[in-house]
Amino acid sequence: MKLNSRKVLITGASSGIGRATCKKLLNDGYQVIGIARDFSKFPCDDNAFTPISIDLAAVEMLPKQLQALAKSHSDVDTIICCAGRGQFGSLEEFSYEQIRSLIDLNFISQAFIARAFLPVLKRQQSGTLIFIGSEAALKGSRKGSIYCASKFAVRGLAQALRDECSKSGVSVSIINPGMVKTDFFDELPFSHGDEEDNYLLPEDVADAIALIINARGSSVIDEINLSPLKNVVQSKPAH
Ligand SMILES: NC(=O)c1ccc[n+]([C@@H]2O[C@H](COP(=O)([O-])OP(=O)(O)OC[C@H]3O[C@@H](n4cnc5c(N)ncnc54)[C@H](OP(=O)(O)O)[C@@H]3O)[C@@H](O)[C@H]2O)c1
Repeated sequence: MKLNSRKVLITGASSGIGRATCKKLLNDGYQVIGIARDFSKFPCDDNAFTPISIDLAAVEMLPKQLQALAKSHSDVDTIICCAGRGQFGSLEEFSYEQIRSLIDLNFISQAFIARAFLPVLKRQQSGTLIFIGSEAALKGSRKGSIYCASKFAVRGLAQALRDECSKSGVSVSIINPGMVKTDFFDELPFSHGDEEDNYLLPEDVADAIALIINARGSSVIDEINLSPLKNVVQSKPAH
C-alpha cells in the first residue's frame, strides 16, 4: 500500500459512487472521513477510515455539526460532496415539503459543507473541493424539474467557487455523470437496464475523482462530463 498523508472528507460514503471512492482512496493510502447515515452498507475496518453518521437533509442541525467537524479535522485537504438522491415526477406531483427536502439534501447541504470547510482549506493555502453534479446539471429534462434545479445549483456553486477560491490556492471541480449503476435507482420507476453499455460503474466516477485529486497543484480540472456508451432509460415494470 502507498503511504499518503492526505486527508479526505467524503459525503455519501456508505454507498455507490461515494463508497467506491472511499475504497479507492483507502487503497491509495489516504485517510478518509466518510459521512452518511447508515454505514451497515459499508462495513470497513480500515484504521484510516473514520465513519461519521450525519443526516445531511436535516439542514437546521448542520451548521453546528459541520463547524465542529471542521474544527476537529482541520487537517482535511480534500472535500468530496457526493451525497444526494433522485426524485422525479412532474412538479405538481411534488408536495411543497418534498421540493424543500430534495433541494436541502442535494444543494443546501453541499453549500453548507463548502461554507464550513473552505476556511480550513484556505488556511492551508491549498486543497481540493469536488462536487458530484449530474448530466441533469447540464440540461433540464421532463419530470426532472427539482432534481435538475438542485444539480444546476450545485454546478453554479462550483463554477462560482472555482473563481472565488483560486487566489487562496484552493481548486474547485465538478463531475457530471450520466447513469451510474448504484442504489440510486432502487426507489425510482426507471433505470439504465441490464446492458453493460447502458451504465457507468461507480468505480468509473471514482477514477475521475482520483484524476482531479492527483492533478498537478497548478493545474485544475474544472469539470468532467462522463456518460455510458449508450444513453438508455428503461421504465421498470409496475408491480
Ligand atoms: N447513480 C446515478 O446514475 C447518478 C448520476 C449522476 C449523478 N449522481 C449523483 O451521485 C451522487 C451519489 O449517488 P449514488 O449514485 O452513489 O447513489 P447511492 O448509491 O444511493 O448513494 C447515495 C449516498 O448518499 C447518502 N445520503 C443520502 N441521503 C442522505 C442524507 N440524508 N444524509 C446523509 N447522507 C445521505 C447515502 O447514504 P445513507 O443512505 O447511508 O445516508 C449514500 O451514501 C448523488 O449526488 C447523485 O445525485 C448519481
